[in-house]
Amino acid sequence: MPRLRERGRAAPAPGGSEPSAVGMTPGAVLEVEDLRVTFRTRLGTVYAVQGISFAVEPGRTLAVIGESGSGKTVSARAIMGLLPRSADVSGSIRFKGEQVVGRSNNEMRDYRGRNVAMVFQNPERSLNPTMRVGYQIAEAITTHEPMDRRQARERTIELLKMVRIPAPEQRFHEYPHQLSGGMRQRVVIAIALACGPEVLIADEATTALDVTTQAQIMDLLLDLQRETGTALLMISHDMSLAAAYSEDVVVMYAGKIVERASARDLFAGVRMPYTQALLDAIPRIDTEPHVLLPVVGGRPPDQSVLRDGCPFAPRCPDVQQDCRDHAPPLRQHEPDRWWACWHPIQGGAAR
Ligand SMILES: Nc1ncnc2c1ncn2[C@@H]1O[C@H](COP(=O)(O)OP(=O)(O)O)[C@@H](O)[C@H]1O
Ligand SMILES: [Mg+2]
Repeated sequence: MPRLRERGRAAPAPGGSEPSAVGMTPGAVLEVEDLRVTFRTRLGTVYAVQGISFAVEPGRTLAVIGESGSGKTVSARAIMGLLPRSADVSGSIRFKGEQVVGRSNNEMRDYRGRNVAMVFQNPERSLNPTMRVGYQIAEAITTHEPMDRRQARERTIELLKMVRIPAPEQRFHEYPHQLSGGMRQRVVIAIALACGPEVLIADEATTALDVTTQAQIMDLLLDLQRETGTALLMISHDMSLAAAYSEDVVVMYAGKIVERASARDLFAGVRMPYTQALLDAIPRIDTEPHVLLPVVGGRPPDQSVLRDGCPFAPRCPDVQQDCRDHAPPLRQHEPDRWWACWHPIQGGAAR
């Protein structure tokens, strides 16, 4: 049973809560509705994200969990407006009630960083190896807020302190290679927080780090969230992170959400056999760290083919004929609990 962290609701974002716009989930800062992303490729169309909906509230953490290829990064990049030209996006992404889909590049530049920011998996790729880390943070600040060098330097030192980097005045002048992997990821987080975003997306932000550093970075993200009231969208393939650090969980498979619940309800008993398989894949204390047990047999489906049946049917231990014939829709079955399965696990506690 994964460790569940007792967490209260954090304070709302500074400045008080905004009146909720018509059609919005009350209190949500970011609302995604029926989001679809397809890629036009030389080999045909890839249906990467097939109609997902969720909302994120200030001061809360929503975990998006799914194995590789399930559409997590594509969804995050759609929210950031960072998809390649070959992508077609439909559906709705609203930030504080304002539609983001279809905005011009210029409008997106202002929104990125200031409203919504993202931390990627690999700090090496997010940082410029030839530039001192202090300047990289200062550059992120001055992109959105014009200020002189002294002010930018002061704000940068503040941010380095905020992400708990020791000796910030000295670190300011260092290059990325002079820092450890964990320290580099702290710098990346500082850059993401430079303009005080209200939504922070952490996409496998700790996957490249060792287990101890991973826990330190996750704790830092939660501390910062409590301090600033930011909404956190935590993307991972690792169910144990969701159990330890999130309040709400959506589980993605083959571009769709297949289960959705509060972390408390979900880990008290999952319904969807795929979620159970992900839970069983949590590394155990008696195995090597980072070794995910291969309990999800088979491979994720080819995303260039649309099927009638449940996409998990070929790999599901509980599959029946109706699963192969018709895909179960994501439906609400209990208060605050949704799943897409014709034959859910009944009252089963998380193993
Ligand atoms: N630029 C692209 N062109 C075509 N297909 C893509 C592109 N980017 C991602 N995909 C496909 O979209 C699906 C979802 O990918 P992704 O969101 O990266 O998965 P993950 O859940 O591992 O983050 C995968 O099938 C992937 O191959
Ligand atoms: Mg990804």
